[in-house]
Amino acid sequence: MDYDFNKWMSDYRVISAVGENCEGGIDRLAFTDCDFAARTELLNRAYGLRLQCYLDAAENLWFAKPGTDPDLPPLLIGSHLDTVPNGGRYDGVLGVMSGFQVLRYLVDNRIEHRRTVELVAFSCEESSRFSLSTIGSKLACGLTTPEKLKNYTDFQGHSPVDFLSRLKYAPDTLADRQRHIKECMGYIELHIEQGPVLESFGTDIGIVESIAAPIRLRLEFTGRSDHSGACPMDLRCDALAAAALTITEVERLGREESANRSVATVGTINVPHQALNVVPGACTIQVDIRGIHRDSMDRIYKGLSAFLDRVEKERGVKINRVVLSDEDPVPLDRELGKIIERNCLKTGLSFRWMPSGAGHDAMNVAKLIPSAMIFVPCRGGISHNLNEYVFEKDLRNSIQILYEVVMDICA
Ligand code: GLV
Ligand code: MN
Ligand code: MN
Repeated sequence: MDYDFNKWMSDYRVISAVGENCEGGIDRLAFTDCDFAARTELLNRAYGLRLQCYLDAAENLWFAKPGTDPDLPPLLIGSHLDTVPNGGRYDGVLGVMSGFQVLRYLVDNRIEHRRTVELVAFSCEESSRFSLSTIGSKLACGLTTPEKLKNYTDFQGHSPVDFLSRLKYAPDTLADRQRHIKECMGYIELHIEQGPVLESFGTDIGIVESIAAPIRLRLEFTGRSDHSGACPMDLRCDALAAAALTITEVERLGREESANRSVATVGTINVPHQALNVVPGACTIQVDIRGIHRDSMDRIYKGLSAFLDRVEKERGVKINRVVLSDEDPVPLDRELGKIIERNCLKTGLSFRWMPSGAGHDAMNVAKLIPSAMIFVPCRGGISHNLNEYVFEKDLRNSIQILYEVVMDICA
């Protein structure tokens, strides 16, 4: 595959930098102006290539390069363009942009292939804004509905549905998308690993066996606001102190299950009306439990529930528990994985089969059609961090392996 890497890199720099903040991190939360601006950048480039472009009712962007045999089910590749707050430049974007390069190469070199290749940039993959992940692919795969999405809001009270109405939201077009996905022969998502395994083993490519799933909770602690000077310690009902105990318990429960590769995190804390001289009367935290073994995730969940019962009793606080997500780990398709393996061997790239700790759109698509993921290393395994970085050799490998796999399946 002989292409102009620097040209690709200059496009990559433009799109991955949309939303750059003064610290150098990327703020491109789903459905913000920056998110829409990044999609427009991509769309303009796709128009330039005369790809077939389609925006569905979930704001997912689709690009197709038709094959010569319309009877063959298309191959779908893709990822997402939104980021976490103060995020990096590779999570999601690399999968979309390496897929885009594959399409561009096919167009520029007039390469004929029998099977249609489609690229999708799924909307709202990150859970950072609405506390629910992979919204675009969930909608397109029929795994949630706009009605259910109204229960999820950001800190300003917007729900994802507010942004879908831009297009005069038409549920039947989503049903069309679901039908369309089912007509595809498979889905392949290329992504940075977001962990240290590939780098530490010096391996070029990860072939994902299964994707960890989240159980996510919002815990609303209600105590009583009091004067921080006048209220004696033994008469308090401090919501923040109860939440603090819970945070360390979540970490302890996660550690206890770490041999089973489960993890548990409290990623947000919100104390309304906070003031130095007020005993906090309310506090909300969000808990993210993930794993590839459901029984291990369940043990963390059960341990946490028992702990919360105890805290309520001992401290007199009320804890409202809202389940935001409860998903099962998703195995990926072995046969598609084998095609990736075969092409690693062919191109001399080292590989290993591995689980994914992070969530991806592939876990939704896998419920409808065979799906696989290709991981590439990121420096130090660092992700969801402005220092996320991928070395040039791994960027080149990303494009190469995706191209080989696409041609293996579609030529
Ligand atoms: C997606 O980035 C996730 O939070 O797993
Ligand atoms: Mn992410
Ligand atoms: Mn991602």
